[in-house]
Amino acid sequence: MHFNTHFNDIAQSYLFSTIAQKVAAYSAANPDKTILRLGIGDVTLPLAPAVIYALHGAVDEMSKKETFHGYGPEQGYDFLKESIRGYYRTNGVELEPDEIFISDGAKSDLGNILDIFAADNKVLVPDPVYPVYVDTNVMAGRKVEYMNATAQNGFLPMPDYSVDADIIYLCSPNNPTGAAYSKAQLKEWVDYANAKGAVILYDAAYECFITEEGLARSIFQIDGAKTCAIEFCSFSKTAGFTGTRCGYTVVPLALKRDGMSANKMWLRRQTTKFNGVPYIVQRGAAAVFTQEGQKQIKANIAVYQSNAKIIADCMDDLGIWYTGGKNSPYIWLKCPNGMDSWTFFDYLLENIQVVGTPGAGFGANGEGFFRLTAFGSPEVTKEAADRIKKLLSK
Ligand code: MLT
Repeated sequence: MHFNTHFNDIAQSYLFSTIAQKVAAYSAANPDKTILRLGIGDVTLPLAPAVIYALHGAVDEMSKKETFHGYGPEQGYDFLKESIRGYYRTNGVELEPDEIFISDGAKSDLGNILDIFAADNKVLVPDPVYPVYVDTNVMAGRKVEYMNATAQNGFLPMPDYSVDADIIYLCSPNNPTGAAYSKAQLKEWVDYANAKGAVILYDAAYECFITEEGLARSIFQIDGAKTCAIEFCSFSKTAGFTGTRCGYTVVPLALKRDGMSANKMWLRRQTTKFNGVPYIVQRGAAAVFTQEGQKQIKANIAVYQSNAKIIADCMDDLGIWYTGGKNSPYIWLKCPNGMDSWTFFDYLLENIQVVGTPGAGFGANGEGFFRLTAFGSPEVTKEAADRIKKLLSK
């Protein structure tokens, strides 16, 4: 018997687990210090009242014989798929119900989707990158190639026709850099993928933070995307579902290679390995798309956007270079005084007890950068900005 030796090729601990361990150790050694957490992108506002109301209603349904729900459809209930279709329509995208698969979150599906791809596919990811894209491929034994995302290209790498990729990961607005592709830029990627027969795995988890015109909210707003892309979405950042768990993946019926349908394979995969998201949670998720739900989640997103501005203003005051924050809940900044990412992490933790995420944790090009999240409470964000300002203007 042998275990999967590809696990020897990934870091021993997942980035955010490593950070949590470091912070826990610091906290245990310094119990009197108040730690301000702007590291992992976890939301802090409670679920919207419309969602809570729907969750309560669904719990009550489960208490009665007539309205009880056992196993549901593995790919999600029609009521939620219809709500999602309606939302896409507002962005000018028409989807078939069978193209939408409800899941327990984008992170799971981004890893699970690899079941439908061949082991020898060549994988292209930006550097820096959300570590899940890399680790899940390396665990499965695939080789990963990197494309440089740097300040020079606005952290938005564009296709290079001399590279033959099979699977391409794009995340926009981007985690960790906050950069977002325009529709024109995404069109270039779609054309490249169709020309090469590649598939784009498009992570749209941060779509709700887009404020500027001309940026894509879905890759399916781009002509030709349905023959080359799969889109991953989440209620986590949009509606505070990080602990409630719900997301969805759009696999177009038109996405076929060698006579095989990605949609049919994903359905086969999900019906075999997944029993669906709880009925109660799907009812809560559907409430996000009601008029009331939309109003309430937008109010919550506005709080996080105002937090992003607090952090951005702090960087402006200090003359620190940064990007993101505008169409994204992440501020991606250059570590001051030439510090490397982990040195800056320790410097902030030890001196002012502010936790962020070292850019180097997202890839080699992240070295010398640092990510702060806007998902804290306004109080914590202001306090963290004050502490950073005081420390760095010394
Ligand atoms: C992050 O901080 O990068 C995200 O919270 C990770 C995630 O969504 O899984």
